[in-house]
Parts: sequence; C-alpha cells; structure tokens
Amino acid sequence: MKILVIGSGGREHALVWKLAQSEKVEALYAAPGNGGTAGEKKCANIPVAGGDPAGPEALAGLIQFAGREHIDLTVVGPEAPLAEGVVDRFRAAGLAIIGPDQKAARLESSKVYAKSFMQKYGVRAAGSRDFTGAEAALAYIRRHFGGNGPAPLVIKADGLAAGKGVVVAENRKDAEDAVHSFMEQKTLGAAGAALVLEDFLEGREVSVLAAVSVPGGRGPGTIVPFISARDHKRRFDGGRGPNTGGMGAIAPAPDFTGPCQKDFIRHILTPTLAGIKAEGLDYRGFIFFGLMIKDGVCSLLEYNVRLGDPETQAVLPLMDADFAGLCMAIHDGGLDEFPLAWKPGAVCAPVAVAAGYPGDYRKGDPIAVNEAALAKTGALLFAAGARRGEGGALGSGLRTSGGRVLALSAAGAGADEAWEKAYRALGAVHFEGMDYRRDIGREHR
Ligand code: AMP
Ligand code: GLY
Repeated sequence: MKILVIGSGGREHALVWKLAQSEKVEALYAAPGNGGTAGEKKCANIPVAGGDPAGPEALAGLIQFAGREHIDLTVVGPEAPLAEGVVDRFRAAGLAIIGPDQKAARLESSKVYAKSFMQKYGVRAAGSRDFTGAEAALAYIRRHFGGNGPAPLVIKADGLAAGKGVVVAENRKDAEDAVHSFMEQKTLGAAGAALVLEDFLEGREVSVLAAVSVPGGRGPGTIVPFISARDHKRRFDGGRGPNTGGMGAIAPAPDFTGPCQKDFIRHILTPTLAGIKAEGLDYRGFIFFGLMIKDGVCSLLEYNVRLGDPETQAVLPLMDADFAGLCMAIHDGGLDEFPLAWKPGAVCAPVAVAAGYPGDYRKGDPIAVNEAALAKTGALLFAAGARRGEGGALGSGLRTSGGRVLALSAAGAGADEAWEKAYRALGAVHFEGMDYRRDIGREHR
C-alpha cells in the first residue's frame, strides 16, 4: 500500500521510519516532511502549497496528490490540520485517512469543549470554570486569591496556541496578567476569546498515547493504550526554565505502575470511550491522554487528538507490531483484535536544540554525524528541524532549520542503559550551538 504522512516534525520522521518497516507498505510520502523523512527507505517528501499543511492553500493540493497517486491511507501528525477539518475533507473526496474528524478534534482545539466533555462523562480531572468575558474571570481570580489560600490557579486559553496558552499563576497578579494578555491584548488571537480557569493539580505528568477506533461514532468502539511515556517540557535540567515543545521523552514512564494503569483505565480511558460513543464522534486515529499522577491516582490534564512529540520517538521503537496494519485496523475496524505487542526494556530520546531555543534560534548550520560512532550505540536519529543540504567531510547532508533539531532514540534493557546509550549517541552528532538536557528520564533521581 501507499501511505501519505502529513507533518514535518520528529514525530512524523518516527512514523515514517516505523511504517517503512512494514511489508504491506510499498511507498511512503511525507508532506512536507523533513531531512530525516527524505532519507528513509521507500519515502519521498512532497511539497505543501504555502508550506503549512494546515494553511488554506494546502488542503486542496494534498487531496489532489492523494487521488492522483492512489494513496491507500493518509496519517495526520499535527493537530492544526485536524482542527481545520483535513479528515472531513479527505473523506468527502472518497479518500481513506486516520485522525479525528473536525468535530472530534475539538477535544484538543477547544479546552472549553474538552472540559465540558470530561465533566459530562465523569472523566477525572481538575475542577474548572469557563469564562467568555474578562470582567467575570478577573472577579473569580480576586475571590480565588483572596480566600482559598496560596494555591496556584491555572489559566488556559480555549483554542490552539502551540504550547503558549497555559499559565500556571502562583499569585493574583500573574493570573490577572494572563487574563489581560489573552482576552484584552488578544496575544493569541481568537484562541484567547474564551478561558478555562482550572484548579492546580500536584504530581508528576505522564503521557499515554493510544489508538482509537469508533468508526462513524457507532458500534462497540475501542481505545487501545500504548506503553506510557514522559515528556520533559522545560528547557533546562531539573525542570527549570521556559516551556518548550518538549526536550526529550522516555518510555515507559517508570512510575506509571500497575495500580496506576488500572486507575487510568477505570477513571479516564473508559469514560472517554463512552463519551466519544455517546456524542457520536467519528474518531479513528490516535488520542493522547496528558495525565497528572499523585499517589497512584490519575487525573486528566488534557486530550490531544494525535500522537505526542517527542513521546512518539520514544514509544514507537518499542512497538512490536506492524504499524501499517495497526493503522488499517484503526480505519477499517478490528482494532480490538489487532495483535499489539511491546518489546521489553526502555527508550530514552533526548532532543538536541538550536542555540537560542525556545526564543529566536540559529538556523542553517550543517549537522555532522559520526555514523560509525552512532551505529555502535544502536540509537535512531529522528530529524525534526533539519533539512537536507550538502554533506561535508563528516557531513550527514543535514542542516538545522528549526528550534528542536533532532532526537536520538536509544533502547536499553532498562532506563539507565537507554539513558547511557542515548547520551553516547548525542556525542556522535554535532552542530554549531547544539544543546540538550542531560537529565531526560532521570530528573528526579
Ligand atoms: P495542557 O495544555 O492543558 O496540558 O497544559 C500544559 C501544561 O500546563 C501541562 O503539561 C502541565 O504542566 C501544566 N498544567 C495544565 N493544567 C494543570 C493543572 N490543572 N495543574 C497543574 N499543572 C497543569
Ligand atoms: N509532548 C506533548 C505534545 O505532543 O503535545
């Protein structure tokens, strides 16, 4: 079969890498892809009109390409095209695609909708209120910090904001500033027109990615969770510094133990599936549960309607199954019978970033890869903000083009071995200004 993967990050490189291993797959296309997808066997990058697959010019071109090339299945990586209705448009053109339709994508694209869904179906989550006017939100903040003691308050913009829409406010001023910025100065545009003010939850975060298949919003439907993972969002070691798109992931999350998993299935996964069916959402794709765990009790912080980045780069190397087969089962039904198995051990996947990230960062530097040293570690290099350029002496032919440049994904018998191999692998890669966190998977040891 021929598969089209939409997106250009490290997650999409990992998807292409995993799909290329399937005997079912004869050709892969990444739209627009990156320097890593371009180098994968069976895969070619294709341009996207306007450069952004969620942009207004892009969709018609992608649909035309999928029709002309007889693409059997399209897999969508990022949230923006899903929120724009890429799934609805492909289906209307008679093309097979996995991902939630636009209505189901609101579980990520509207926090107000997601919170009302959680409440309606009894998914365990932090208490919250919605606001569409700044006055009422500010009055609530005054009451919160006036009466309820020093507990932080979490201010969330309703819409998609590329990680900039959540403020954990420690005091009244920070909370008020967030409301002014989102609602009055409109720093996030329409995404900040409504807000969710949410109680702060303590604990440690865990990401559970899962396959979901509720074709037509009907039938028994299934959600099959993958092994757990943990992202590391802050820029610097020890969880300090500004928020980023994710500085590295480990899988599985060592503290997501049996009792925790049971609690997650009962209080989060099962009511979510019930809700998807009760709402009649046509959801065939992936879902990401962003959890907070404390003393074995899970609460849901957020849904994402896609796989995580960089969690995917840590989780897929442990998947012992034909990923193209899994995608077909998601699309056609039969996910509940799909033989999804996991390799033992752990994966550590630190991300190398460009100087300046997450602020303005350097671009265009050659990336040197010592292939022999890298091969010794067995680590996989997943490119993200890296495009193909001319190779140098130790050249990989890659040049930096984004803030998060690449991830090295190394497997080991346990988390320590995986960590050790991943960091040896990072030593085999160099570009000007390259930096990374040293504590992926071990920040609280
Ligand atoms: P979200 O996009 O809702 O996952 O929020 C982004 C990040 O903000 C999460 O990964 C958490 O680190 C933090 N966060 C969100 N909601 C809460 C909460 N209720 N309590 C504590 N931290 C939160
Ligand atoms: N790693 C978090 C995300 O993909 O949103």
